[in-house]
Amino acid sequence: MTQVSVVNLWKEFEGQVVIERVNLEVAPHSFISIVGPSGCGKSTFLRMLLSQEAPTRGAIRIDGKSLPAEPTEQRGVVFQRYSVFPHLTVLENVAFGLEVAASRLLGRLFGARRRAAFEGCRGILEEVGLDAARDKYPAQLSGGMQQRLAIAQALIKKPKVLLLDEPFGALDPGIRNDIHQLMLRLFDETGMTVFMVTHDLREAFKLGTRLIAFDRYRTRPEERELYGATVTFDIPLDRATAGERRQAMDEIAPRVSASADL
Ligand SMILES: Nc1ncnc2c1ncn2[C@@H]1O[C@H](COP(=O)(O)OP(=O)(O)OP(=O)(O)O)[C@@H](O)[C@H]1O
Ligand SMILES: [Mg+2]
Repeated sequence: MTQVSVVNLWKEFEGQVVIERVNLEVAPHSFISIVGPSGCGKSTFLRMLLSQEAPTRGAIRIDGKSLPAEPTEQRGVVFQRYSVFPHLTVLENVAFGLEVAASRLLGRLFGARRRAAFEGCRGILEEVGLDAARDKYPAQLSGGMQQRLAIAQALIKKPKVLLLDEPFGALDPGIRNDIHQLMLRLFDETGMTVFMVTHDLREAFKLGTRLIAFDRYRTRPEERELYGATVTFDIPLDRATAGERRQAMDEIAPRVSASADL
């Protein structure tokens, strides 16, 4: 079980403040849905959780320890699309991460270890419903199957924290519903903590145990560079009544659809 703390986090790019004063104590095994207008810094926030970007100020801690400066296997990620390797089969795509991880120490995997690794990959592919497609290439898969593959690829390394940046945004509603069920099952089965950015409020409410909205309080043109987005809503979805959820949805909906650049 993994606890994440975000302490007074700020991010500036070339003098433009994007995120400011973000403080979050994230309980173990939380599913945090993140919403907010386009350009408010949601992906930047995820990139800081991954160590792809360094905070300008403040800190992120996982189980009390500061984040390593580089991405590590404790944090997995799934993007909206194109995160799988087109020249590798489904099975090879999942095995690839393990081979790279092992090769740092051992060169490529051999013998019994290699067989065990491939069995682990087959197990994950079964979990996400792709075992029958294991010898296909990504171009032969539907969008939903490619995202299942991207999820399998992230999960094979057993991350403590899974970061999802609009992972289901390009999928048809029916496929999206199937993958929601899969995601909820995988969340239940693992102890991981998930941060998911989405523009789909219904998705945010359906999957999240807690909903965070980012937005700017100050939006006048002369204030734009000086002030960033921060947490404007923080709703414990797992404890909210149906009425509270409806009210929160009504309050947040108009703000999420607006663009931060306007
Ligand atoms: N590497 C960078 N260098 C300079 N500015 C950046 C960089 N990355 C992001 N930004 C700026 O930071 C702001 C937030 O970008 P970010 O991609 O995090 O927004 P977002 O909330 O994910 O938007 P969207 O909903 O459209 O995906 C934008 O103004 C963007 O131009
Ligand atoms: Mg983004």
